[in-house]
Amino acid sequence: MSDSLDFIAPVENGEEGFLIKPEFKPKSIRSFVIRAGRITVGQKAAFDTWWPSYGLSLYNGAIDPQVIFGRAAPLVLEIGFGMGDSLLEMAKNEPDKDFIGIEVHPPGVGKLINTAGKEGVKNLRVYMADAMDVLEDCIPDASIDRLQLYFPDPWHKKKHNKRRILQPAFVQKLRPKLKSGGVFHMATDWQAYAEHMLEVMNVAENYANLSPENGYSARPEYRPITKFEKRGERLGHGVWDLLFQHRP
Ligand SMILES: C[S@@+](CC[C@H](N)C(=O)[O-])C[C@H]1O[C@@H](n2cnc3c(N)ncnc32)[C@H](O)[C@@H]1O
Repeated sequence: MSDSLDFIAPVENGEEGFLIKPEFKPKSIRSFVIRAGRITVGQKAAFDTWWPSYGLSLYNGAIDPQVIFGRAAPLVLEIGFGMGDSLLEMAKNEPDKDFIGIEVHPPGVGKLINTAGKEGVKNLRVYMADAMDVLEDCIPDASIDRLQLYFPDPWHKKKHNKRRILQPAFVQKLRPKLKSGGVFHMATDWQAYAEHMLEVMNVAENYANLSPENGYSARPEYRPITKFEKRGERLGHGVWDLLFQHRP
């Protein structure tokens, strides 16, 4: 656990409020846009109160989930939880599992830890950092039972496609983190991204598509319908779930 709130600094021009920034190492291509966010005094208070219980820092290096949660339980890792509504719901619905969420967007992290704290949720921790760095430096090999990537930024324009988080190199970086038999679960409402995911995953080494036709899977019951997805539905988009199992 990290009780350091170094990532929050008072605004320097004398106005009320604080600047907050996620943790990340220098990189040439990112799957997100860097925003040093501004938070209010109230939001800072939420971080002061709940970060020491829920926050994990990239700079503390490798974690031992059993030490963090004080028990041995299946581990679920979610990358890019947004505002965290569905992650919180899953943590509450599956108390027999432990959940770690990674998100670079500070308001989403703040909202999640504030609600989780008020509701007394115990099986959840968060990184406010780039998932690439967290995977590299913090998550032990063969530790994850379920990895979740829901509605990642689609980066629609062709020239931006390289910023999509789901790329062959990323998939291979994830692979050793999954336990044997662990499942990588993706969902998207952007058809071109779904096709890209399927193409990358169907040829990825040591992953087996859990759909019998090597295609998309039905939404498993544990995945709640996210706010993002509801919006997609209203816009008439489809939603595609992909489930791949790590089989070494
Ligand atoms: C389109 S939103 C979807 C949010 C949420 N999963 C949902 O379904 O509502 C994608 C999220 O991924 C986060 N993200 C993108 N790249 C990331 C990275 N490398 N590490 C952590 N979070 C990332 C973004 O900040 C954003 O909140």
